[in-house]
Amino acid sequence: MAKHEKFNFTELSQLRSRAEELGTDLHFSEDISILSKPVKVGKLTTPNAFAVLPMEGCDSNEDGSPSELVRRRYRRFGAGGSGLIWWEACAVVPEGRANPRQMMITKENVKEFAEALKESRDAAKEVMGKDFEAVHILQLTHSGRYSRPSGTKGKPIIAQHDPYLDPRVGIQQDMPVVSDEYLDTLPQLYAEAAVCAKNAGFDGVDIKACHRYLMSELLAAFTRSGKYGGNFENRTRLLRDCIRAVRKAAGEDFIIACRFNVFDAHPYPYGFGCDKNDFWKFDSTEPRALVEMLCREGVSLLSNSAGNPYYIYPQVTRPFDTSSMGIPVPDEHPLESISRAFAFTRLIQKTAGEVPVVGNAYTWLRQYIPYAGAANLADGSCRFVGLGRSSIAYPDAPRDVLSGRGMDPKKCCITCSKCTQIMRDQGRTGCVVRDSDIYLPLYRTARSEAEAREKGETVK
Ligand SMILES: Cc1cc2nc3c(=O)[nH]c(=O)nc-3n(C[C@H](O)[C@H](O)[C@H](O)COP(=O)(O)O)c2cc1C
Ligand code: SF4
Repeated sequence: MAKHEKFNFTELSQLRSRAEELGTDLHFSEDISILSKPVKVGKLTTPNAFAVLPMEGCDSNEDGSPSELVRRRYRRFGAGGSGLIWWEACAVVPEGRANPRQMMITKENVKEFAEALKESRDAAKEVMGKDFEAVHILQLTHSGRYSRPSGTKGKPIIAQHDPYLDPRVGIQQDMPVVSDEYLDTLPQLYAEAAVCAKNAGFDGVDIKACHRYLMSELLAAFTRSGKYGGNFENRTRLLRDCIRAVRKAAGEDFIIACRFNVFDAHPYPYGFGCDKNDFWKFDSTEPRALVEMLCREGVSLLSNSAGNPYYIYPQVTRPFDTSSMGIPVPDEHPLESISRAFAFTRLIQKTAGEVPVVGNAYTWLRQYIPYAGAANLADGSCRFVGLGRSSIAYPDAPRDVLSGRGMDPKKCCITCSKCTQIMRDQGRTGCVVRDSDIYLPLYRTARSEAEAREKGETVK
């Protein structure tokens, strides 16, 4: 592993040389025409190969409906011209919200979701033309050990105890793990949320199984007893049951997607996709079996992610220049982190065959994203180039690339982790640097409230 380094490239050739020097498997293509090719997802076709990755703003209304900040985010994403818009985490039950302002879709607020979705579609048509139809997917989630449905203290719901993660959220050894009976109720609740999403006009839902929230933790619940723990069949049971319930309730044509962790970077017996003796080594056996299962069950869109953004190795999920507070500088170069993420996507796309996979972890590459994306699309490593932080920093990047202007370096995300810091500080998040009129004040407020909490002061 090479020393961590900040982004410092003014020419593609410099970036290419550095990637080669480091021995990474990164490729760049100057023919980027493939980015504008349509992609089939289930029975639909997206107008191009860009995707907005789910980016939570922690800023919905109390009832879970989209606030004006949420609506603004999706109008901006719409106008950015991506062919696929993967909406952020949206809770299926109140106790599974990651924060009191996480979105939550219910029969009572379908209308507000429908309005927000229409605004996003209209914004796209206004700039991309009246026939432009992006595919919109809503990510359904239960936050499990990271649930904080009210107030400032978490109310974890855990699939198994974990000596590395429990102390970080104050979980005591005698706290019971979530019961099988509770988990048995979830497929019906995911199905109801999916029907609400369908009624709101979404093209599909994602049954989220990444980043160590409940479904992701279950994939690694080796120490859990009973029908949801231990062997692979049991650890994937809830995910499978949710897919089946959603399919039955929402019909054949509704897209079921899955964003899942392919690699937790977490020791056995607590991490998924990791070698039993060295958790930094990837063991592809179960991730491949998972993808085969998902495709067999009729999932028609996949996105592989990895790592645990709440733990000490966030570079596995999102390579960065500067970490959020309290996170050590990684023992690897961001290009190595990106190369690992791309290799995962390549393997998942190969395993998934015709089912499209959305690649991720591109943002650190800034204005060179299109060249890496085009190379990955061209060699079959993925079907979509997914953008996370780039989408909130520079929502118009896909439009600029598709129109031939290219990405403006001055608008790119600088991977400063301030958007993550706001989340950790329990504020409303967005790009503090490139959307500073709105998010710099919100960053400052969240920071000072977090500091006051640390000192034990009361925060209004
Ligand atoms: C502020 C923030 C919010 C995020 N919200 C979500 C989310 O709701 N669901 C999800 O699956 N991933 C979420 N992610 C992860 C991103 O979708 C993405 O996987 C990650 O940032 C790496 O891609 P990038 O390099 O393009 O940013 C979030 C990341 C950040 C920084
Ligand atoms: S705050 Fe903006 S520039 Fe910083 S990492 Fe987040 S999206 Fe990128």
